[in-house]
Amino acid sequence: MRVVSGIQPTGNLHLGNYLGAIRNWVRMQDEITADGDDRAQLAGGGSAPKNQCLFFLADLHAISQPHVPAELHRGSLEMTAALVACGIDPMRSILFNQAQVPQHAELQWLLSGTARMGWLNRMTQWKDKAGKNREGQSVALFSYPVLQAADVLLYQATHVPVGEDQKQHLELARDIAQKFNNDFASEGAPVFTLPEPFIPPVAARIMSLRDGTAKMSKSDPSDLSRINLSDDPDTVMRKIKKAKTDPEPLPGELAGLADRPEALNLVTIYAAVADRSAEDVLGEFAGQGFGAFKPALGDLLVETLRPISRRFTELLEDRESLDAILATGAARARTLAGPTLDSVYRALGL
Ligand code: ADP
Ligand code: NA
Repeated sequence: MRVVSGIQPTGNLHLGNYLGAIRNWVRMQDEITADGDDRAQLAGGGSAPKNQCLFFLADLHAISQPHVPAELHRGSLEMTAALVACGIDPMRSILFNQAQVPQHAELQWLLSGTARMGWLNRMTQWKDKAGKNREGQSVALFSYPVLQAADVLLYQATHVPVGEDQKQHLELARDIAQKFNNDFASEGAPVFTLPEPFIPPVAARIMSLRDGTAKMSKSDPSDLSRINLSDDPDTVMRKIKKAKTDPEPLPGELAGLADRPEALNLVTIYAAVADRSAEDVLGEFAGQGFGAFKPALGDLLVETLRPISRRFTELLEDRESLDAILATGAARARTLAGPTLDSVYRALGL
C-alpha cells in the first residue's frame, strides 16, 4: 500500500487546520506504516517498505493563482514545522515539497499529451474557480488537475485519500493513467498503477470563537477568533475564557444546541480534541454552564496543544532542521520517482 497526499502550504496555522486536516494525516501515517519498519529499512539501505505514506506540500499548485512569493515560502516552512510538531515522522513518512522534486512538473508535461481538453473542461472546480472569466485565467488553473495526476502516478500510488471535492480529480488521474497504459507500454508492461480512492474519516469543522457560524480561519482579522498552533497555554486559556457563549446550561442532547452555534462549536471542539462524540461530551456536562465547561475545555486544549506548540515554535526558529527535513524527503521522493519517469520516456519513444 502506497498512499500519496498533498496539502496547501499555508501559514498562520490554527486549531481548525489541526483538527480538520493535519491530524488526519498523522492518523493515516500511524495506521498505514508500522513504527520502526521504515527506520530499519532506511538504516540498512534495504528495499522499499511495503506500506508507505508520501506527504507533500503542494507549492507548485499554489502558483496557479495570484500569490505572494515570500508568503508561499513562509507557508511551506510553517506547514512543514506544523506537520512534524503534530506527529508526522519524517523518517517514517516521506515529507517533501513538490518544487524540490522536478519530476512532478516533468511528468505533468508528459501526461499533457494524453489528457484531453474535454476532460479538463468538465472539471467542476475549474468551472467554479474560473466563473465567467475563463479567458483571464492562468493556463495552470486549467491544467493543474494534470499536475495532480502526476503527483500520484509518479509514485505508483495505490491509494489516495479524497474528500468530496477531489473525487472528480482522482477520476481524471485514473482516466489519464488508463489511456496512457492503453496507448503506450514500456517493454510490454503497463506504466502506471491505477490509484484507488479512499474516503478519510470526516474531520471536524471548527468555527470562530467570536462567531459560531463563521469558519475558524487565518483570514479572520480578530486573533481572538482562533487558537493558533503557536499560542502558549496562557493565551489558549484566555481565548477560551473570552469565547462568545450564552448564559444557558448545556443540554443533555445535541438537538438542544440547534440554535446555539457558539455553544455547539465549543462542544464540537471538546469532542474533536478528546476524540469523543459530541453526545458523549454532553452526557458528561449536561446541566452545567460555561463557567464550568470553559475551564475544562481550556485544560484539555492546553494539555493537547502544549507539546505541539512547543515543538512548532522550536522548529520555526530552526531553519536548518526544516530545510534538512524537506531536503531529505525530496531526495527520497526523487529516488522513488526515477524509475516511473524512465518508463514514461521509454514508452513515449523519447
Ligand atoms: P484557512 O481557512 O485558515 O485559510 P486553509 O483554507 O488554508 O485554512 O485550510 C487548510 C486546511 O485546513 C484545509 O484542509 C482545510 O479544510 C482545513 N481547515 C481550515 N480551516 C478549518 C476549520 N475551521 N475547521 C476544519 N478544518 C479546517
Ligand atoms: Na482559506
